[in-house]
Amino acid sequence: SSAFPFYGEHQAGIVTPAQDRLHFVAFDVITDKRAELVDLLQEWTAAAARLTQGKDAGTFGAVGGAPEAAPDDTGEALGLPPSGLTLTIGFGPSLFDDRFGIASKRPAALADLPKFPGEQLVPEISGGDICVQACAHDPQVAVHAIRNLARIGFGKVSVRWSQLGFGRTSSTSRAQATPRNLFGFKDGTNNMKLEDADLLRDQLWASGEDGSAWMAGGSYMVTRKIRMTIETWDRSSLQEQEQIFGRDKGEGAPLGQKKEFDPVDFATKGPDGQTAIRDDSHVKLAHPSSNGGMHLLRRGYNFVDGSDGLGRLDAGLFFIAYQRDPRKQFVPVQMRLARHDALNEYIKHVSSGLFACPPGVRDAGDYWGRALF
Ligand code: HEM
Repeated sequence: SSAFPFYGEHQAGIVTPAQDRLHFVAFDVITDKRAELVDLLQEWTAAAARLTQGKDAGTFGAVGGAPEAAPDDTGEALGLPPSGLTLTIGFGPSLFDDRFGIASKRPAALADLPKFPGEQLVPEISGGDICVQACAHDPQVAVHAIRNLARIGFGKVSVRWSQLGFGRTSSTSRAQATPRNLFGFKDGTNNMKLEDADLLRDQLWASGEDGSAWMAGGSYMVTRKIRMTIETWDRSSLQEQEQIFGRDKGEGAPLGQKKEFDPVDFATKGPDGQTAIRDDSHVKLAHPSSNGGMHLLRRGYNFVDGSDGLGRLDAGLFFIAYQRDPRKQFVPVQMRLARHDALNEYIKHVSSGLFACPPGVRDAGDYWGRALF
């Protein structure tokens, strides 16, 4: 029920210990006036500073304004605590077209993602000019925050797509127990974590030396909505499931080892004389040792969007990963997975997003993306 600070060097919602609920939204900017966009970012920042501390979106609040005016808060979070709400903004490649005079500020690291083998992306639920990731312990609080940002943005932005998530699929701090994804496996064991200070500096936070001064202290976010074919998975054997990931299902230990946090050892042999962890397993292919030492900070969520009308759950993983440079991190890892991962038989990537998340807001005089304008 507590609140995370809104102001700081970095945006909250990245290394913040992952909350349990997500409402993610991607907006298209529909005004072509730069001044209107800047005004909106200022209004949003002020609202976010209030919302994350458990207050109403506007200063009058849901019921404190003039009776003849529409309230400056929608009211469904009245009486609820801050619930660990964080709001994290990101700017997509399409914001850097000619409309707002910021084309020259597009970071090199915000290069469009390549096409990956096997992906089946749906354009209507991909991309976007601006995204906001709302995470909280209470779904009502996360939804309230996104709804009020959309309300404030009326006429300047329109919602392109949005996604609800429940059940974090990653730990971002060693103080957290590892949760499970919808395939029943512990997810987030070998994630980059809050306590890994050197790694965060080298591989999470952008630096001014990377070429875009306005991104110093920020990070790049990749989202992938990954549909999981639960029904087929549920008929596969336990042994196959464990070999696909390269970890056991109960403890989450690397195959050939005993405990969850035992180091992964790709040389250990199983009883059949083969390596215990297969070459086409998810963990082998995604591991930093297969990817030039590159890590990701994963911060995804499970989703179930009802059923698909064909008797199957419309379910999966809404994957979110933060990193210093997707060209060196997400892209090569996903290329390797897309080509070789045994998991591919059971998953399908249907949406993709790429966003530059600016550094944190320093104080009440600062606003989201100020250094960009
Ligand atoms: C590890 C599940 C997609 C990158 C893992 C683990 C599981 C898992 C169970 C082992 C536990 C852990 O260390 O967290 C899944 C599922 C996916 C999925 C169910 C899709 C539905 C992806 C994608 C990427 C990715 C798209 C990146 C392109 C990684 C990385 C690791 C990992 C970097 C850590 C490997 C290590 O260092 O041992 N994933 N994952 N995963 N996954 Fe995924």
